[in-house]
Amino acid sequence: HKRVAILISGGGSNMLALLDSMTGDHRGRPCLVLSNDAKAGGLAKAAARGVATAVVDHRPFGQNRSAFEAELMKPLREAGTDIVCLAGFMRVLTDGFVSQLQGRMLNIHPSLLPKYKGLHTHRRALEAGDAEHGCTVHEVTARLDDGPILGQARVPILPEDTPEGLAARVLVQEHRLYPAVLRRFAAGDRRPLMLD
Ligand code: GAR
Repeated sequence: HKRVAILISGGGSNMLALLDSMTGDHRGRPCLVLSNDAKAGGLAKAAARGVATAVVDHRPFGQNRSAFEAELMKPLREAGTDIVCLAGFMRVLTDGFVSQLQGRMLNIHPSLLPKYKGLHTHRRALEAGDAEHGCTVHEVTARLDDGPILGQARVPILPEDTPEGLAARVLVQEHRLYPAVLRRFAAGDRRPLMLD
């Protein structure tokens, strides 16, 4: 099996969807859930499923991103990681870290990339008057929220939508999309998966 590490910063609902998908003929198995925040709610949920967890707090490193990333790499190496899934991991990663995991790291972003890189994607889609929104899984490269697209799921925007309501409907699609893309990726299939 490919050993899959999942990086989180928060509640970890995407992480749980990924963990629960890695059974049967799936070519991946979870090896580690790693967070930059000891308070991330996802850590206890991963531990309750018997998955190893680790925390590397970014705060003691201040602006020194590469020192933080060197510490982040240690548990990933020790776990024998083949594939890294960023799942609500809210730290920007430098070129140095990304290049060590070139072609082996995925991210989920709550917009139809290349639209709305960065934060507040739901509010920005509403303010733009878009008819649809969604989420994207992509390979991570040194450029933020960039890199080859591995899958997208679309969500219609409703007339009275709020950022919160829209985010909740996108999140449901994230939980479909990310496991489906990881399943294919772990089997060596990088063709984009487009879900409605
Ligand atoms: C998800 O909506 C994910 O797409 C987003 O954070 C949320 C995490 O939720 N990621 C980003 O904004 C990355 N910049 P979760 O912890 O419940 O999976």
